[in-house]
Amino acid sequence: MDDRELIGIALGARERTYSVYSGVAVGCALLTKSGNVYIGANIENASYGATICAERVAFSSAIVNGERQFVKIAIAGGLWGKSPTEPFYPCGICRQFMSEFCDKDFEIIIAGGDGYEKYTLGELFPHDFGGDKLR
Ligand code: THU
Repeated sequence: MDDRELIGIALGARERTYSVYSGVAVGCALLTKSGNVYIGANIENASYGATICAERVAFSSAIVNGERQFVKIAIAGGLWGKSPTEPFYPCGICRQFMSEFCDKDFEIIIAGGDGYEKYTLGELFPHDFGGDKLR
């Protein structure tokens, strides 16, 4: 699946957001090595800390469905009711979350305006905290 097709799915996922507090709507689409796509959207909560980012929703959905190998994710975020005009980068917690399951060459596609930006996880999160540091 090409990048623009995955962005299109992320834009559709954005419509599923439950973001009644921040006014920010984020959608994403995660492609697995098996060829499946899992969507995510941010889900907020009156207890703000209970909010879940779109990226972790998509990864969690994929993981509980048995997926463990990931190719790329497209992310589209911005203010509700407007199409994303600027890049919306994944937060630090989501970068750490991805690093648990993805190699450094996992691709992160960020929609914004007419074009998009593309990075590897290694570029956006060069120094992860990994399980190799534990025990
Ligand atoms: N958000 C995401 O969905 N992904 C990120 O990587 C950063 C932030 C959401 C969470 C919250 O609903 C809103 O954006 C404002 O922080």
